[in-house]
Amino acid sequence: MDIKRRMILYNTLTIIIPFIIASIIAIIFVSLSSKFFDTSINYDEFKESAYVRSELLNTVREISKSNIKNIKGTEFEKFLNQKLALIDGKIIIIKNDSIIFYSDNMDKMDIENSLSEANNKSSKNLVTIGNIHYSVKSFPLQFNDDLQGKVIFLVPIKKETDVLKNFIIAILAIFLISSVLTSILVSYIFSKKILTPITLLKESMSKIRDGELNFEIAETGDKEIRELCTDFEQMRIKLKDSINAKMKYDDNRKLLISSISHDLKTPITSIEGYVQGILDGVANTPEKLEHYLKTIHKKTIQIDNMIDDLLLYSKLNLKQIPFNYERTDIVDYFNYCILENEPELNKFNIKINLQNHLKNSKYVMIDKERFMRVILNIIDNSRKYMDKEEGKIIIFLRETASSIIIEIKDNGCGINENDVNKIFNKFYRGDSSRSNASGSGLGLAISKQIVEGHNGKIWAVSNELKGTSILISIGKVS
Ligand SMILES: Nc1ncnc2c1ncn2[C@@H]1O[C@H](COP(=O)(O)OP(=O)(O)O)[C@@H](O)[C@H]1O
Ligand SMILES: [Mg+2]
Repeated sequence: MDIKRRMILYNTLTIIIPFIIASIIAIIFVSLSSKFFDTSINYDEFKESAYVRSELLNTVREISKSNIKNIKGTEFEKFLNQKLALIDGKIIIIKNDSIIFYSDNMDKMDIENSLSEANNKSSKNLVTIGNIHYSVKSFPLQFNDDLQGKVIFLVPIKKETDVLKNFIIAILAIFLISSVLTSILVSYIFSKKILTPITLLKESMSKIRDGELNFEIAETGDKEIRELCTDFEQMRIKLKDSINAKMKYDDNRKLLISSISHDLKTPITSIEGYVQGILDGVANTPEKLEHYLKTIHKKTIQIDNMIDDLLLYSKLNLKQIPFNYERTDIVDYFNYCILENEPELNKFNIKINLQNHLKNSKYVMIDKERFMRVILNIIDNSRKYMDKEEGKIIIFLRETASSIIIEIKDNGCGINENDVNKIFNKFYRGDSSRSNASGSGLGLAISKQIVEGHNGKIWAVSNELKGTSILISIGKVS
């Protein structure tokens, strides 16, 4: 539920609930009162009291019209008694401050009481004659002969009228009390529904502020608050990811620095040794000198290559190198690649050939130059880690429904099965490679970055002592 709807619902409930409570209590009271108190409260009561009132007013009008000085014993007295019989009441008529008529069965005390009640505006205007309670109602009047006076009626009050009055007051009071209680309850529930999730959210924020990110912000409460929780949860995940990425980046940097210093130190130390040898006069023949200088040159190139690899790797890592994709016929591309590498490989007695299992010309989108770097890395590894007299490199081209699979297979020394997965890690070099062949340990890490930059995959399958296959899958285009 959203907050707007909840507010509408609660406000409606604040009105409806007291109404229902008051109605239920009224119904119960009415049905119980007729059962237990021998009284009934109904519409007839109202009708009767209205009737009495109209009868009284009629009578007052008649009196004002009458010109009789002494009512006793006249027809008009009969008429009055008839009217009074209808309402069971009594009457006192005052003309010019003297009582000119009063009903039978009234003594002096009753008349005095009635007059004082009629004049007393602040009292309840009640008198008791015999066992009957009367309500005293006074009406001013002007007689035909212009004299002023008033008529005082004593109307018997029924118990029910009081009950009815009290009942209405009680129902009103119940309505008011239940309104207040409902509104307190509804406000409490409403604030709980809104405040509890907000408090939870606040606690989560405090945790995040204190750097704790390993918890989940639960989605609770109304729609708007749930959405707020979702946003905060996403923010927490992003924050956590970015902190993790930063930590990883820091670790990478530390590893990079320690690996660079370690890997650069080896060739530099050997250059230092050879230079020292020359300075000490150890290279005392032109041949020796040439050998020393050639070694120094080789090591310098090695350092240069390592720095190149490092630069390329960090640029790829920072995604600073744009790829220039071109639609390329994969078979043509590998034929060219073989043509380029064959002469150099032949020097090491390694044969290279292509086994094309593609049915017809197939195209891929590649950055030819960067992709060539991948293939050269792989072929160079096959050459470097070749331990057989007759070296062989075969490039297989196959296809699946959506990709071209390139497999570059050699019959070299192979890789221990525990290490196959590590060869794409930066600075990873097999133990034997570290001591024998030159390299930076970045070749395959760079290759992986480039292949993944082409939305491709690269992996290795190797058989220790027998050889290694590096496989690449890359999407076909038409
Ligand atoms: N064809 C292969 N045969 C055997 N070992 C290989 C081959 N290719 C890669 N490796 C192993 O993987 C490691 C990582 O290769 P690479 O990233 O190219 O670094 P580098 O060639 O500079 O050592 C190598 O040091 C080597 O141990
Ligand atoms: Mg390499």
